[in-house]
Amino acid sequence: METLILSAEEVKKLITMKEAINAVENAFTEYALSKALMPPKVYLTFEHGDLRAMPAYLMGYAGVKWVNSHPKNPEKGLPSVMAVLILNNPSNGFPLAVMDATFLTSLRTGAAGGVAVKHLARKDSRVFGFIGCGKQARYQLLAIKELCKIELVKAFDVSKRAEENFKKFCESKGVNCELKEAKEVCDCDVLITTTPAIKPVVRDEWIKEGTHINAIGADAPGKQELEIELLLRAKIVVDDMHQALHGGEVNVAVSKGIISEKDIHATLGEVVAGLKKGREGKEITIFDSTGLAIQDIAVAKLVYEKAVERNAGKRIRLIDLE
Ligand SMILES: NC(=O)c1ccc[n+]([C@@H]2O[C@H](COP(=O)([O-])OP(=O)(O)OC[C@H]3O[C@@H](n4cnc5c(N)ncnc54)[C@H](O)[C@@H]3O)[C@@H](O)[C@H]2O)c1
Repeated sequence: METLILSAEEVKKLITMKEAINAVENAFTEYALSKALMPPKVYLTFEHGDLRAMPAYLMGYAGVKWVNSHPKNPEKGLPSVMAVLILNNPSNGFPLAVMDATFLTSLRTGAAGGVAVKHLARKDSRVFGFIGCGKQARYQLLAIKELCKIELVKAFDVSKRAEENFKKFCESKGVNCELKEAKEVCDCDVLITTTPAIKPVVRDEWIKEGTHINAIGADAPGKQELEIELLLRAKIVVDDMHQALHGGEVNVAVSKGIISEKDIHATLGEVVAGLKKGREGKEITIFDSTGLAIQDIAVAKLVYEKAVERNAGKRIRLIDLE
């Protein structure tokens, strides 16, 4: 029995955004129907960043993603996020594959954003606002492009270079992009926030009724992109209740005692599985995304099955079976 090793380059050839959206949507359903297992993430926290272990079981596969977050890494010529995923056979524990999961992390985050837009945004959404123009913004755009007719993207970033690069990226995908101040960007049908902010960048008064917001950036305690007043007048859908209360967009309001679990409308899985309602009329909806291990296993499963089918990657005798 050999273990399949898949590099970043190989992983990228084995999965498309469209496939990732379907896989992640199914993963949310499985989780809502209690058919998946996902214990809380485990953190090792250091002065300049952290490492997280993200285990899950889903659809016949088990696995763990081991991922770092070191925001100052780019200054040293390294990505801030790097990830490796081990995929196991749950019936005997054998490590089926070890693969790069850096690309998969962005892909599955974009895919979750796409699933949220599909179920929570108005069907006539045409104008998409982006606050934060880094890596996640690109994958959110790629997912939304699969699902919606984009007439205009408006974007803002504190870095002019990031803004210009994002505009070029949009245009390379055939999407019209205008760079605007944050307030003007918020005048849109769907707003996507992907900053590492620890104080609000989106003011309550800038958001009109009927807007859907993908709040992607806050994924650890203390992070916050939206004013708490905005949370109070919105229908909030989280990816996972425990993770969101701990480190999602709602975490600061929760720690101040302003919001609690009873103020959260549903998990995205409950909406996708039809257990709870999605959008109803001209309300403001917020998807609070923290990133789930089930999303990682869902895309890794697909990559592994395609690799086996296409005989891709390198097989090695990693484990001594004696
Ligand atoms: N929810 C999830 O599943 C998930 C997954 C991956 C990353 N994240 C989080 O998303 C955030 C962004 O990640 P990334 O990989 O895109 O990082 P990135 O560094 O590539 O991009 C972040 C961008 O935000 C900009 N920015 C910072 N503060 C800002 C502010 N106040 N207003 C406007 N722009 C601002 C930066 O200039 C940068 O261009 C991080 O907080 C990361 O931890 C969440």
